[in-house]
Amino acid sequence: MLAVAGIDIGSATTKAVILEGNKILAFHLEPTGANAKETGDRALAFALQEAGIDLADLGAIVATGYGRISVPFARRRVTEITCHGRGASALFPATRTVIDIGGQDSKVIRLDAGGMVSDFIMNDKCAAGTGRFLEVMAGVLEIRVADLGALALKARRGAAISSTCTVFAESEVVGLIARGCPKEEIALGLCEAVAARLEGMVRRVGLEGEVMLTGGVALNEGVRRALERRLGVKLRVPPQPQLVGAYGAALLARDLNA
Ligand SMILES: Nc1ncnc2c1ncn2[C@@H]1O[C@H](COP(=O)(O)OP(=O)(O)OP(=O)(O)O)[C@@H](O)[C@H]1O
Ligand SMILES: [Mg+2]
Repeated sequence: MLAVAGIDIGSATTKAVILEGNKILAFHLEPTGANAKETGDRALAFALQEAGIDLADLGAIVATGYGRISVPFARRRVTEITCHGRGASALFPATRTVIDIGGQDSKVIRLDAGGMVSDFIMNDKCAAGTGRFLEVMAGVLEIRVADLGALALKARRGAAISSTCTVFAESEVVGLIARGCPKEEIALGLCEAVAARLEGMVRRVGLEGEVMLTGGVALNEGVRRALERRLGVKLRVPPQPQLVGAYGAALLARDLNA
C-alpha cells in the first residue's frame, strides 16, 4: 500500500501527516512564518524523514489551509471545511458538529450521519473568536499563549471584557491591568469572550450530536471549559487537535489513490 500525505498550511501553523493505510507513519508541525511555500516543503520533508520514505514514494498529496496554493506537488487542493469534516468523522464517526478555532479564523461545521459536510459557518473577517485574539492578549499580559488557559483556570470569576473588537478589547485589558485586576481573572474573561463568539456561531448552525473541538485553541483548557459551560455539552478534543485538517487531507489523498 502506497503512503500518502496531507499538508495543512494554516495562518499560524503548518502541519504534515503521512499515512499508510490506516496508520499514521509520521507527522510534523511548525510555525508557518512569512514564507508558506518554504514551510510547507520543510514540514513535508521532516515528516518524510521521520517516516523513513522519500517524496517519490508518496502515492498522492492533498493540500489544505489558507496556504494550500503554495504546495506545488499537491494532486488536489481542498478546503479546510472538507478536510476538518473528513478528519473529525474518521477520528470519531459519531461527530455531527466540528468547532475549529485556528490562528486566523474559526469555523463551525455540521456533518450528516454519513460524515459529509451539510452546513458550515466561518468567521474569517475579524480576529475576535480566533487564536490571534488570544495571542495578542497574551502579549499584553506578558505570558505565553500556551499558558493562558491554565492561568484562566485559577480564577474564580472572569473579568468583564465588553468589546468584541480585538483592538478595543486590547485597550480594555491594558486598563484592567492598570487598575490591578488579577491576571487570572483577565485570562478567564478572555477565554469567555472567545467562547461567547463561538457560541453565537454554533447557535446559528444549530448544536447537534457529538461535538468535536479542533485547531490550536482546543489546547486552551480555559476556552474549552468556557465553551462547554455555554453550550451545555462535553466537547471531544482529539489528542492532536491541530492535526485534524492535515489528517483529513491525508485521508482524501488515500481516496485518490484507491
Ligand atoms: N500549546 C497551546 N496551548 C494553547 N493554545 C495554543 C497552543 N498552541 C497553539 N495555540 C493556539 O492555537 C492557535 C493556532 O491554531 P492552529 O494551529 O489551529 O491555526 P492555523 O490552522 O494555523 O490557523 P487557521 O486555520 O486560522 O489558518 C494560536 O493562535 C494559539 O491561540
Ligand atoms: Mg487551521
